[in-house]
Amino acid sequence: MHLPNLKDANIKGKTVFLRADLDIPLVNGKIEDDFRLLSAIPTIKYILKQNCKIIIAGHLGRPDLNQESRIRNPHFAEASRGKQELSLKPVAEWFAKKLSHDSSFIIHDSSLGGLEGWEIGQNIFLLENLRFYKEEKANDPEFSKKLASLADIYVNEAFANSHRNHASIAGVPKYLPHFAGLHLEREVEVLSGILKNPKRPLVVIIGGAKIETKLPLIEKMHKIADYVLVGGKLADETKTLLKIQHEKINSSSEKKSALLIADLNTDRSDITLKSAENFLQILNLAKTVVWNGPMGKISDDKSVIADSEQGTKKLAEGLIRNSAFVVVGGGDTVGFLKKICLLETFACLPKARSHLSTGGGAMLSLLSGEKLPGIEALL
Ligand code: 3PG
Repeated sequence: MHLPNLKDANIKGKTVFLRADLDIPLVNGKIEDDFRLLSAIPTIKYILKQNCKIIIAGHLGRPDLNQESRIRNPHFAEASRGKQELSLKPVAEWFAKKLSHDSSFIIHDSSLGGLEGWEIGQNIFLLENLRFYKEEKANDPEFSKKLASLADIYVNEAFANSHRNHASIAGVPKYLPHFAGLHLEREVEVLSGILKNPKRPLVVIIGGAKIETKLPLIEKMHKIADYVLVGGKLADETKTLLKIQHEKINSSSEKKSALLIADLNTDRSDITLKSAENFLQILNLAKTVVWNGPMGKISDDKSVIADSEQGTKKLAEGLIRNSAFVVVGGGDTVGFLKKICLLETFACLPKARSHLSTGGGAMLSLLSGEKLPGIEALL
């Protein structure tokens, strides 16, 4: 798959619409994890170096627009919170700090083409949460044209949202010359490389919950990988389902991996120590590892490592010591690496050793062999 390369394009002096991954965990207005924002920084710096203006756009969460009529009614303070809590203002402040050498850098409330947002210095404008407009999710062509009219060039640096057929992902590139952001390009190169020609043995570890979103990946990886290891809630609730799946695949003539489903401890909150050790032994054989989803229940309390997090911690520590190429994705998994202070360690490994995907659903979709609307729109 050959994506249009930003560095081959002449964008000097132009205005660039940059669709970025701004959907970050925000608690009481505080950004808990800026991993997705950081992934866009090299592209933003590159574009600014070309003397361009940048309009950064993206979404945060899933605002309930049906509540909109209640917003001005004080009796519905609860309902109005949705929109206020999902404003991108903290993200504007984050960018202002990150991109300015001057600590007194100030952001201004402003608007652009009738859309609210913030001026961040002279050359950067951040649009307010695009999902505040129902036209974004509806992939409304008029809304796409309106967004496109703000700029000369479109860049997709929002891999984590590229599985959505939304206006800023699949619509805007129809109306502007379009390019892949530097991080998105790497995501596609790494993940499609795993589908095509992985270094073997390829071991895939899948955890977390939501079997309906993970089953297509298990099915696909069962045909591609050498081992598929299943942990987390997935292992518990779906043991029977997975066994049926396994038998279905086994009875086909296609290549199949060994499928191992972890045992869970008595309170069903984590994989057993024995299962964690078995998984680590298999991981030691691997040349490529793909990991999406924790092995046990992840606690919201960031200050202590819960008992239910021991299996995931053991696995993460084992993967740091491993010499395979390790690809990690999924919000909970990456968030947990941050919690145990290993995210930085993974991020600092050489490119040939690790890749941290910003994608949760997008990573699952691409690895399940689906076409992503945001990627297709760039081709
Ligand atoms: C994600 O966090 O996976 C993306 O930002 C997509 O969010 P969505 O599931 O609300 O579309």
